[in-house]
Amino acid sequence: MANMRIRIIGDDVLRKPTKPVETFGPELEKLASDMVQSMIAADGIGLAAPQVGLSLKFLVVGMPIDEEDEDMRQIYTFANPEITAEGEELIMREEGCLSIPEIYEEVERPDQITLKYQNLKGEHLEMETSGMLSRVIQHELDHLNGVLFVDHLSPLKRSLLKGKIKRMQQEAEGED
Ligand code: CO
Repeated sequence: MANMRIRIIGDDVLRKPTKPVETFGPELEKLASDMVQSMIAADGIGLAAPQVGLSLKFLVVGMPIDEEDEDMRQIYTFANPEITAEGEELIMREEGCLSIPEIYEEVERPDQITLKYQNLKGEHLEMETSGMLSRVIQHELDHLNGVLFVDHLSPLKRSLLKGKIKRMQQEAEGED
């Protein structure tokens, strides 16, 4: 297992279109386990492939299940996920992103979604979910379409964050 470098806003790969996952089995299992490890090491609850530099329709989620031990997670992996239905109820909730450190803002999203996807073996599955898991999946799925959570904010909020994001990009470039 290896920790992967997490890309920061301003990196082109975060805006690039992603390709469908076509290879399943051991290779994808290895990617999933590397991404899960990198997500937990960075204190995140979700990670999409573009965030580790891969333009692939793949994401992992790790929901905390034990308040005492933050590394205890319920792990979910989604290849080629697609939302097929959304509930009518919209909810505002604060989000953050490993690719946009230190910025947390409220974003409105549907509470309930129906999702079709493939598992690590390539089997086609469907799930219906709501609450925190639904929120994380929607956030990560945005990454597969080159969308970041700050794109959902009002133009005013975005312009207020501009300076902060610019400094963040400069710091990230300095590390390369
Ligand atoms: Co994110």
